[in-house]
Amino acid sequence: MERTLFIVKPDGVARKLVGEIVSRFEKRGFAIIQMKMLTFSRAQAEEFYSVHKERPFYGELVNFMISGPVVAAIIEGTNAIGTTRMMVGATKPSDATSGTIRGDLAIDISSNIIHASDSQESFDKESKVVFG
Ligand code: CMP
Repeated sequence: MERTLFIVKPDGVARKLVGEIVSRFEKRGFAIIQMKMLTFSRAQAEEFYSVHKERPFYGELVNFMISGPVVAAIIEGTNAIGTTRMMVGATKPSDATSGTIRGDLAIDISSNIIHASDSQESFDKESKVVFG
């Protein structure tokens, strides 16, 4: 059993895709351990994405993540980190295959509706930023 974290980003919440996205993980067999709606503070978003702080899109990414409420969840199941990343699809929605969340529901790299932890280390850090 493994845990991971996903966040339905502000565009996903605004587009009313929370139910659709959570449902995919529930149907796959994951258990929801924690889930909450929150609006990131700037400091929280900067810390959450600190791994990208040297990248040219960092400022835009932080501004986007604080632009509205998000829904964050910790889910649990076999190979949760890898399976969730596979279900989410490629970062660039135009590279994401149909059947993945981004491949079915997103078209833009900066508004790609969902984030998921990419490793145990990321999960530990990100879940602490969101859930304390
Ligand atoms: P996410 O999986 O949340 O991880 C970092 C985010 O940065 C990524 O999804 C994208 O939404 C965002 N981003 C914006 N521009 C780029 C880019 N050029 N390359 C990678 N990620 C980008």
